[in-house]
Amino acid sequence: MFSRRAALLSFLLSGAVNALDSNVTHTCQQIAAAISSASAVYWPLELTYTANIYHYASSSAAAAVCSVEPGTPEDVGLILQIVGENQTPFGVKGGGHTMNPGWSSSTGIEIALSRFNQINYDASSQTVQLGSGLIWDDVYAALNPQGVNVIGGRVTGIGVAGFSLGGGYSWKTNQYGLTVDNILEYELVWPNGTVVTVSESSYPDLFFGLKGGFNNFGIVTQFTMKTWPQTEVWGGIIEIDGYLYADQFNAAIANFAKNVTDPKAGMLMAYNYALGIYLMTAILFYDAPTAPPGIFDDFLAIPYLSSQVSTQSFLSLVQASPSNATELERGYYHTVALEALTPSIIDVVYNQSLHYGALLALDSGILISYDVEPFLPSILTHGSDTAYPPSRAQRYLPLNLYFGWSLATSDDAFYDALVETQSNIYNAAVAEGQDIADAALYPNYALFGTPLEKLYGGNVGTLQALQAKYDPDDVMGLTGGWKF
Ligand SMILES: Cc1cc2nc3c(=O)[nH]c(=O)nc-3n(C[C@H](O)[C@H](O)[C@H](O)COP(=O)(O)OP(=O)(O)OC[C@H]3O[C@@H](n4cnc5c(N)ncnc54)[C@H](O)[C@@H]3O)c2cc1C
Ligand SMILES: *[C@@H]1O[C@H](CO)[C@@H](O)[C@H](O)[C@H]1NC(C)=O
Ligand SMILES: *[C@@H]1O[C@H](CO)[C@@H](O)[C@H](O)[C@H]1NC(C)=O
Ligand SMILES: *[C@@H]1O[C@H](CO)[C@@H](O)[C@H](O)[C@H]1NC(C)=O
Ligand SMILES: *[C@@H]1O[C@H](CO)[C@@H](O)[C@H](O)[C@H]1NC(C)=O
Ligand SMILES: *[C@@H]1O[C@H](CO)[C@@H](O)[C@H](O)[C@H]1NC(C)=O
Repeated sequence: MFSRRAALLSFLLSGAVNALDSNVTHTCQQIAAAISSASAVYWPLELTYTANIYHYASSSAAAAVCSVEPGTPEDVGLILQIVGENQTPFGVKGGGHTMNPGWSSSTGIEIALSRFNQINYDASSQTVQLGSGLIWDDVYAALNPQGVNVIGGRVTGIGVAGFSLGGGYSWKTNQYGLTVDNILEYELVWPNGTVVTVSESSYPDLFFGLKGGFNNFGIVTQFTMKTWPQTEVWGGIIEIDGYLYADQFNAAIANFAKNVTDPKAGMLMAYNYALGIYLMTAILFYDAPTAPPGIFDDFLAIPYLSSQVSTQSFLSLVQASPSNATELERGYYHTVALEALTPSIIDVVYNQSLHYGALLALDSGILISYDVEPFLPSILTHGSDTAYPPSRAQRYLPLNLYFGWSLATSDDAFYDALVETQSNIYNAAVAEGQDIADAALYPNYALFGTPLEKLYGGNVGTLQALQAKYDPDDVMGLTGGWKF
């Protein structure tokens, strides 16, 4: 179904052809000469260069010839004009958390957006301007003293940019929708260097396209988002021995997914296989200092290895997740869009995690994680038309599959296994009657090689026309990602 080798081949070939066409070192020097003093170019061995090419998954990083940190939107425009003229491949990096190789990295030039770190909160309009180089941790820390928050990432370290340009499933999504539904304005640098403000009224077509369309229309330097009230929250992460308590854990998930309708409640459950240890984790979330009784009782009744559940700040709950511990590993994500988390499909997910955990541990595997993410049926009513999801008639649940390993020689084996387990779960869901043949896969979770139609459905044609309109020379084709 997914033609990985064809995708990889065309990816490698495009890089190789571009590398022959252009002298990247020369392009770097041209950029250094053109940009203002607000920006800078860095070379290998410099600490800033190392930080600029850094990615959460080491397989998503690449050794660029140089990196550049633009400090103004105008400099971003100059850089895009130069790489476009020279046909130099480049990467655009926000928080560097993509799990697809080459999506925000390049063996040409890495454009790192870290200097766009502004956080301008406006209490009167209940909005905040966020630079596209921020990670959510910084945003939560800055907004907390104001008693407000935005609809952002659920664990530590994730970038604002890629998350917001792809969709955005948050702890507050049950109440306020996806991150794309909470963006009012984008500061966008077109591929020809012009800086524009994209809103519903100024460029409705781009406003639609940027809600799921990533880097196809240029580089975003700032997002303006709605803010919502934020008190302390109740919740945290619980770790459970998966060999002992699977039945209770599985039943608790099914019950929560089916029966909990309080939009302030959220959960993220994971089946984790790490170096022979089988651990289940549940992150509990309630958007108030205390949770009403009943909602989380099934989980709290399971004996745990550790629990961090308490009343705490939103940031502290987000940072309690051990996601940073997996840095420096290779890793890919994949996903199934489910209609429902039924007891039987939960059983299949559980079984698949055990099966592939044991199998892949033999092949330099470090961490296999199957993450179950319940959301209310109403989450898509908080927004209107977007590139992703392509239809708002029904919401689907993005199952997150994560395989992490250590050796580059295992990349193919893990890719193939991920495709296989994805298809096993998909087939099992269809077999039990889930109507998911046309359910869009979440672009921030889908594995490279997945056909565009699987992510953007009936929007593909519109998005291709939009890309051709705003990037007629296909400058953004020099960078990786889901390409229209
Ligand atoms: C540990 C972990 C936890 C996660 N948890 C969640 C979660 O709870 N909910 C959820 O919805 N997703 C989650 N994700 C997925 C996450 O949303 C994506 O990985 C997202 O793309 C990360 O954004 P980033 O800025 O860090 O990525 P990057 O790797 O920097 O960028 C991702 C893509 O966006 C493009 N891009 C980045 N910045 C710009 C810009 N300014 N202009 C144009 N294009 C740009 C890049 O070129 C690239 O193609 C998680 C991922 C990880 C690794
Ligand atoms: C590439 O550009 C650099 C700097 O401009 C120059 O020194 C070098 O000779 C060029 N290499 C080739 C192969 O053109
Ligand atoms: C995780 O890593 C990011 C940098 O990528 C850092 O800013 C953040 O504080 C880290 N979180 C924790 C809990 O250490
Ligand atoms: C939902 O709640 C009902 C009533 O308490 C219960 O009988 C049912 O088993 C629950 N559903 C699941 C999937 O646990
Ligand atoms: C568990 O998964 C394996 C591998 O996909 C499969 O062979 C087996 O039939 C599954 N067992 C159940 C009970 O689903
Ligand atoms: C830049 O691109 C936009 C969108 O395609 C176009 O409207 C504008 O005229 C272009 N500007 C220049 C200076 O070419």
